[in-house]
Amino acid sequence: MTDKPWAGRFAERTDMSVERFTSSIQIDRRLYPYDILGSIAHCRMLAKTGVITDEEASKLVEGLGGIQRDLDHGNFQFDDRLEDIHMHIEDRLLQDVGKVAQKLHTARSRNDQVVLDMRMFVLDATGMIMKSLQDLRLAFAELATQHCETIMPGYTHTQRAQPVILGHHLMAYYEMFTRDYLRFKDSYARTDVMPLGAAALAGTTYPIDPHYTAELLGFSTVAANSMDTVSDRDFVMEFLSDASICMVHLSRLSEELILWSSSEFGFVTLPDAFATGSSIMPQKKNPDIPELVRGKTGTVFGNLVNLLTMMKSLPLAYNRDMQEDKAPTFETADTLKACLGIYIKMLPKLTFNKEAMQQAASSGFLNATDMADYLVNSGMPFRKAHSVVGRAVAYALEHKKELHELSLKELQTFSKSIEQSLFDHLSLKTMVSRRLSSGGTSQKNVKGAIKKALEQLRKEKAEEKKFFSEKR
Ligand code: ARG
Repeated sequence: MTDKPWAGRFAERTDMSVERFTSSIQIDRRLYPYDILGSIAHCRMLAKTGVITDEEASKLVEGLGGIQRDLDHGNFQFDDRLEDIHMHIEDRLLQDVGKVAQKLHTARSRNDQVVLDMRMFVLDATGMIMKSLQDLRLAFAELATQHCETIMPGYTHTQRAQPVILGHHLMAYYEMFTRDYLRFKDSYARTDVMPLGAAALAGTTYPIDPHYTAELLGFSTVAANSMDTVSDRDFVMEFLSDASICMVHLSRLSEELILWSSSEFGFVTLPDAFATGSSIMPQKKNPDIPELVRGKTGTVFGNLVNLLTMMKSLPLAYNRDMQEDKAPTFETADTLKACLGIYIKMLPKLTFNKEAMQQAASSGFLNATDMADYLVNSGMPFRKAHSVVGRAVAYALEHKKELHELSLKELQTFSKSIEQSLFDHLSLKTMVSRRLSSGGTSQKNVKGAIKKALEQLRKEKAEEKKFFSEKR
């Protein structure tokens, strides 16, 4: 190992405890593929602009390729004294190709280098998450296709409210995950900015060509202000925010599956291969996957708060605090990918208990609003109809019946305008099929929403190439 790059100015060697405390190699070693790609592009740019010769660039690029292979195969010794992945690779390059390695860092600082690596990591992670979100949305649309006629209770305040189609409930999740997809797509564009050239903070005196480096690495644009470039971690905070909102949705889905798979609800059966048992209670089948997804939401939220707090008081430009951005970013990417992946596999295997859902929708006065609507159609103002039905509900409760179980005679004591036709009006099928307002639960709307979703997914597939740069 060589001396520290800054050894010239220092009279004392770094204390061992400081080496350990400041080292980030155990975490940021994961950035090596990006660091090497970035260094290769930087070398090529330096050669193109005449800062180094073509021959020097070839030696450096060849050396970097060898280091990449060694890292891929685990033939690489890590050492806290070399702090981070950037210094490890540079040090190894010096051993492998000799003095020419000292030219690699011309017109560059670790401050812009680390932003480049992190941007490439976040872009790749975002692309993978977008792909998973497409798969998840497809799984919801396909599941909804099988349940365009399945009727269940819709809830407010966790109390039965009005009947809805299960496909409609499932497509609500399609909408949430579509917004997540679009949020990631949006932040992708702001992350897709090449930072090299900012150097330590003020830019560089060398005649560099950052647009060429950007082109080599597949970036769409180059950074505008060198001070902002090295001190900006907005793209990380956006990634963590997008991930947190997505975890909110996954957690709400999990909560519903946990409730619905309980004996109290009995709406859904989880596949055996995606549930676990108890070590003591032989009868148990536990929804551990949804529970863990719900639990991991805490990790992801915590990582967002971590980053926001770490950044909030930093003066411009680079501060070492920012080294702490890596663990929360990596952990969030891994957690979200894992949660999406497991749901993509599990969703198509859920079995819904149509009878239990229909049964639950048939009791609890879910047709009260529709009875009021019936009276409104016969000319009664809605407020009056609401109170008439309220009295009918009280009467039915007293007689332990549902509204549709009362006789025509009994019903007519509440309003003269009630006729035999009310009974069809209060049937589950009629109630849902009449909800034709835009975005309402009618079977017709649900089928339309699924068709639109499948078309949208096909369109996205056609344009998705952009998010998986072949250069990276
Ligand atoms: N390991 C550092 C980080 O992740 C790299 C940048 C170090 N720059 C510096 N001036 N110490 O932030």
